[in-house]
Amino acid sequence: MVKNKCYCILLLSIIGNIFGYSQQTLLSGMDKLNWEKVMPGVWKATIGETKLNALDYADAPKVEALKTLGEAAFPFNKENTLSQKTPTRIGIRLPLEKEEKIYGLGLEFEGINRRKNVYTLKVDHYGGVKGYTHAPVPFYVSSKGYGVLINAPQRVKIHVGIGNRKDSNLPTAIDRTTGKNWAARPLSDAVEANVIGTGLEIFVFGGDSPLEAVQRYNLFCGGGALPPKWGLGFWHRVHTKSSDEAIYQEIADFKKNNFPVDVIGLEPGWQNFAYPCSYDWDETRFPNPTKFVNTLSQKGIKVNLWENPYVAPTSTMFEAIQPYTGSHTVWLGEVPDYTIPEAQKVLLNHHQKSHLGIGVSGYKFDEVDGYDFWLWPDHATFPSGNDAVEIRQLYGLILQDLFQDHLKKQNKRTYNLVRSSYAGASSKNSVIYSDYYNHKEYVTALANSSMAGILWTPEIRSAKSAEEWIRRFQTVCFSPLMMLNAWSSGKKPWSFPEVTDAVRDVIQLRKRLLPYLYTAFYAYQQKGIPPFRAMILENGFDAKEVVTGGQLDGVANPYAEQKKLEVTDQYMMGPSILVAPVFTGETSRKVVLPKGNWYDFYTGKLVGNGQTITIQTKLEQIPLFVKDGGIIPMIGEGEDLNANNPKLEVRHYGQQENEYTLYNDDGASFDYEKAEFTLMELTVKRKKNGQFNGNCEASRNQQFRYKKTTWKWMTEAK
Ligand code: GAL
Repeated sequence: MVKNKCYCILLLSIIGNIFGYSQQTLLSGMDKLNWEKVMPGVWKATIGETKLNALDYADAPKVEALKTLGEAAFPFNKENTLSQKTPTRIGIRLPLEKEEKIYGLGLEFEGINRRKNVYTLKVDHYGGVKGYTHAPVPFYVSSKGYGVLINAPQRVKIHVGIGNRKDSNLPTAIDRTTGKNWAARPLSDAVEANVIGTGLEIFVFGGDSPLEAVQRYNLFCGGGALPPKWGLGFWHRVHTKSSDEAIYQEIADFKKNNFPVDVIGLEPGWQNFAYPCSYDWDETRFPNPTKFVNTLSQKGIKVNLWENPYVAPTSTMFEAIQPYTGSHTVWLGEVPDYTIPEAQKVLLNHHQKSHLGIGVSGYKFDEVDGYDFWLWPDHATFPSGNDAVEIRQLYGLILQDLFQDHLKKQNKRTYNLVRSSYAGASSKNSVIYSDYYNHKEYVTALANSSMAGILWTPEIRSAKSAEEWIRRFQTVCFSPLMMLNAWSSGKKPWSFPEVTDAVRDVIQLRKRLLPYLYTAFYAYQQKGIPPFRAMILENGFDAKEVVTGGQLDGVANPYAEQKKLEVTDQYMMGPSILVAPVFTGETSRKVVLPKGNWYDFYTGKLVGNGQTITIQTKLEQIPLFVKDGGIIPMIGEGEDLNANNPKLEVRHYGQQENEYTLYNDDGASFDYEKAEFTLMELTVKRKKNGQFNGNCEASRNQQFRYKKTTWKWMTEAK
């Protein structure tokens, strides 16, 4: 009898599959999602309605680039994509295969595979609850090569392969007393998510690989950021109490110590009241702001201003903004509702007149995240009628959009810092930072940022030793924004004399790599390929996982969290450089090499192929490896590192012939959108005698052509 029943169920499920519905459509009370194709390889399903939408603050999709990437297959059986709307909540369910890994979910500092965990994606100061972070982007990428954006202005709570509906494909239950493999988190066959709210959109991005899915997401959000060249130089944030005179002296000291400085960041003390903010210059420390900004500009140095959004009653902007502020204060400052266009105008008018109009290059938007005990509460009200939670999720994104757009109208690119971001931010020229300061986890964040359409800086602030100082410097020099944030420590790059030369050398190396890095950002802009990438986005990388933990008091315990130690302590920069930072106390480290031959950046020697190697580290070097055939254009030795078209040294590694398209433009404006840029084709071919020959041709517009190219064959031709 029992046997017959089983046959019946099997038969029903076969019939179900033939007629286009599977067992899962029986999932009680859930509706099938309706998918609409919106671009090649991009689909959308909508449930209910929302008032605020992050994508309204994103740039328009790069349609041509999406077309070039081409079509992709829809990654699921549509029948198994479900939703459920109750009066208070919307739930969704998307299928997961047994072996699938899920990456992403924003700026996480821990691990990379999100499966078997629950995240509450909330804009917050980092820490505490899983998913509370500066940029809780509700976008995930599957190891199968697709991406999903759950676009909701409310906090998304997402169960990644965890939680088992009684009518889903359940694994066999195990008796814990007698069975071996009882699991506190039984395998589940779905990603389930919910928001408290009235609506959400789901976007699915197809692809052949996780990278392709990420590219589609970035292109859909306007393509990647393209910073101005000065933004990729060295940033120094001075002590909060610095005056103009103190800064002139500091700049002279940089020169004396032979260190470059491209951007000076002013911290709260530039204002006559801070926390909340006046946004007005402090006359004792900066009696003549125009002269100050001009003086720095003449030295080729940009000025970036710190601020938070909370308006002090003493601000010259206070009266104008007050009609547009919310019910609650933050540090007794009023909280503008920047979803209202009039409020945006007040801010832009004030900032244009007082800062941007005199040459300030951009801002550091601080405290747009914050813990609950200082930010406005969820029950705060705002004049637009928008929900306080939604405004909080989108606040950092809105500020990024507002200023980028404003400066674009003046044909100026900016590079800002911001402490919160969200979905749709790919094309924003802003970099996220944190007060949190764990070096290893800073590197993990760098890997994770590449799957969230955001840029992250592992800024350096202070160190307990010279060793830590140089190790952190090396990491930040291989990140989207190279910055010493001395707002409190007052440190200088030469603060640890034992390593001053090594610090100078790594800054110099980063500056010399500008042609390569700038071209990597161009690929981000045009093709959506993140310039700094998690290893799992690299072709030929075997994403091995070592599972640790799962113990309490030394005894195996299924409730204890198991940590999956995937490779998050190394990452890719541009098409061919693998960066493997070293942490304090280490004299050797393991490096996992993707398939293909890899070469030491400094010596050109072969180090391995598709294997895990152990290297002995040197204090003065950050380990860098280059893939076979890697072409690395660098500014020639002794050249002016800030010149727009200096002489180049082009390095070639390994045995493969290769081609590389080098990008250059004016480095500052949006004229590149009007085809004002130069592409140089760098080609390496073998000569008859087996030796390499390098060729360099500007295929279009000669205006931004690098002057002269010297080839450097790093590996002996064999
Ligand atoms: C913090 C910020 C620091 C620094 C400081 C100044 O919130 O994270 O980088 O700017 O404020 O008060």
